[in-house]
Amino acid sequence: MMKAILLGASGQLGREWQRIINRDYSDEIALLSYTSSDLDITHYQEVSDEFRDQKPDVVINCAAFTDVDGAEDHKKLARKVNMEAPLYLAELSQQLEFKLVHYSTDYVFPGTKLNKREFPEGYPEDHPADPVNWYGKTKWEGEQAIRQTAENHLIIRVSWLCGQFGSNFVKTMIRLAQERDELQVVNDQWGSPAFAENVVRNCLTLLENGHRGTYHITSDGLITWYDLAREIFDQASMDVEIEPVDSDAFPTKAERPYFSKLCTHKIDEISGIEIIDWKEGLRKLLNRL
Ligand SMILES: NC(=O)c1ccc[n+]([C@@H]2O[C@H](COP(=O)([O-])OP(=O)(O)OC[C@H]3O[C@@H](n4cnc5c(N)ncnc54)[C@H](OP(=O)(O)O)[C@@H]3O)[C@@H](O)[C@H]2O)c1
Repeated sequence: MMKAILLGASGQLGREWQRIINRDYSDEIALLSYTSSDLDITHYQEVSDEFRDQKPDVVINCAAFTDVDGAEDHKKLARKVNMEAPLYLAELSQQLEFKLVHYSTDYVFPGTKLNKREFPEGYPEDHPADPVNWYGKTKWEGEQAIRQTAENHLIIRVSWLCGQFGSNFVKTMIRLAQERDELQVVNDQWGSPAFAENVVRNCLTLLENGHRGTYHITSDGLITWYDLAREIFDQASMDVEIEPVDSDAFPTKAERPYFSKLCTHKIDEISGIEIIDWKEGLRKLLNRL
């Protein structure tokens, strides 16, 4: 039986991990789940004591400072959660010999118009990072800290994460469509949604087969938020007018990349991995909402 510690258990991805392990893997994986109030990943002594007591085989770090605009105002805290704590987890991974699974983001990349033309299938894993906002910068630093410190790590970059739990674009669009007849949606940011269930199942395949290193997981397709909104309303048969607009219509504190598609060719070569079409991923998610 594999013993796994899950950090950030009340977040969107953390809750999906719990759902899938409890439902389908309870005979193979003993999961210990910690919300931020159970265990703050920046409280290093508590983290160390807990890990030394529990002796996990794997630590799955779903904890992160994910408020992209808030990170511009809370730079120290964002760096602490997204870089310093992951570095500490990596040091413990070396000392206590557990595998560290860590999540990162499409926002590590610069996302230029030129890159969109160069990489129509998305950024490959080894493309140089050059984040345009503080959140992306701290996530990149966190990745680097882990790469340089923990031999046995998996870093999974995801983009536009959407799942049953927590808040995300799909759930926001459905809520707004229930409140309004007309919506404006950004049509000049390109990428693809990663569906939480697909992310967790593919991570389990990587874990089962002992893979290490950095991988991208998202769905097939290259779309804008407007395309995604239109498909949500089509599939959910919701009657709402949507107007495509430029990002300028919604000024935000943090800059967003114009293009942040992640290429999934590397992971797709692994047996048992399923990269789903974005419309199919959406269909599965809407069935669960
Ligand atoms: N959401 C996206 O679109 C997206 C896109 C690309 C990459 N990612 C990455 O995917 C991963 C999972 O994202 P998500 O959407 O599941 O995030 P989320 O829903 O915001 O969850 C993050 C969790 O981290 C916890 N947390 C924050 N600070 C903590 C601390 N100091 N100690 C312990 N826990 C702490 C939060 O707890 P509280 O709620 O109690 O603070 C929350 O439960 C993250 O690494 C994120 O960077 C997400």
